[in-house]
Amino acid sequence: NYYAILMAGGVGSRFWPVSTQDFPKQFHDMLGTGDTLIQKTFHRLADLIPKENIFILTNERYNDLVLEQLPEVTKRQVVLEPAMRNTAPCILYASLKIQKENPDAVMIVAPSDHWIEDEQTFTKNVEQAFSFCSKNKALMTLGIQPTFPNTGYGYIEFDKTSQEEIKSVNQFREKPDYETAKEFIAQGNFLWNAGIFMWSVKSVVEAFENNQPELFELFKSGIPVYNTEFEDDFIKDNYPKAENISVDYAIMEKSKNVFVIAAEFDWNDLGTWGSLYDKLDKDEAGNAVVNAKTLTEDASGNMIRTKGDKVVVVDGLKDYIVVDKEDVLLIYPKSKEQDIKKVLQKVKTTY
Ligand code: GDD
Ligand code: MG
Repeated sequence: NYYAILMAGGVGSRFWPVSTQDFPKQFHDMLGTGDTLIQKTFHRLADLIPKENIFILTNERYNDLVLEQLPEVTKRQVVLEPAMRNTAPCILYASLKIQKENPDAVMIVAPSDHWIEDEQTFTKNVEQAFSFCSKNKALMTLGIQPTFPNTGYGYIEFDKTSQEEIKSVNQFREKPDYETAKEFIAQGNFLWNAGIFMWSVKSVVEAFENNQPELFELFKSGIPVYNTEFEDDFIKDNYPKAENISVDYAIMEKSKNVFVIAAEFDWNDLGTWGSLYDKLDKDEAGNAVVNAKTLTEDASGNMIRTKGDKVVVVDGLKDYIVVDKEDVLLIYPKSKEQDIKKVLQKVKTTY
């Protein structure tokens, strides 16, 4: 009865110039391991879930990339969104499809672009959650011990008094402002939301029905048939009408039956070049290098990546991102990595 929804529709604009709208980060080998991020995620899930029960949700423009990189996947498993509407519509749409196929399904919803090294512990935590969701009407999240007031994450306040591994959640707060995030961390019983969810299909559909009735009405009528012209037409006509909203705001903040299990594995959402730098092996001087041969002198803390086996000579450079692609060369301070999104906009309007 196990199913998965793999979300692969994001653009990853802070990883420009490697990640682009036509070829986003989940389809790149960001770690230099030989596998792309979506391949890594798919295989991680396939340890736990029958391959044919893993659904990939992505924008229609990435269809070829998905089929090329995951040859084991059939057309039935790929849901192509005609418009970007964030995670709530895609999760409800896929859940309704899965429910039609198996009303007793228990599922995991996972991003396709995260770094998780210890796959065994990941599998163990997800199995614990699955077993809980099969018996309880629960929306389950994986919680990460926070280390600083990151305002890009969701925060989960868990019940302090609970001795159980799976704790009930008092409140779920998506992307609080900095002051609030600081207070949350000081309180000690808050975790970051890893963005990985587990629930029975029944529970998640009910959560949408109760909290997002418009979205629910929009999709529920048309979803029954797979892979037919009917479905192609249905999604084209209706998906763009969905509200643009993330699952965190749409149901997690609003639901009372949220539970969390603290992840026992190392996690990183690979959101920026700096977070990738943190996870890569470094040379003696502390430079992380992907696809390059380097000669460094007085250089440290740099994230260096080229397309091929290029020789990169760096002297006197500290804490920079150096990324070389055919058409773009980026040399940018790591401390300003959040601004790469804006730089990309500027570049687009200039060239
Ligand atoms: N199919 C599809 N369609 N996937 C999408 C879409 C879409 O329209 N939009 C985003 N995604 C995918 C992204 O590729 C990513 O893998 C995942 O959904 C989450 O989207 P993000 O845009 O990266 O969300 P976020 O980082 O702002 O916040 C979420 O993740 C954090 C942890 O990384 C939230 O769940 C936070 O609460 C959480 O802390
Ligand atoms: Mg993210």
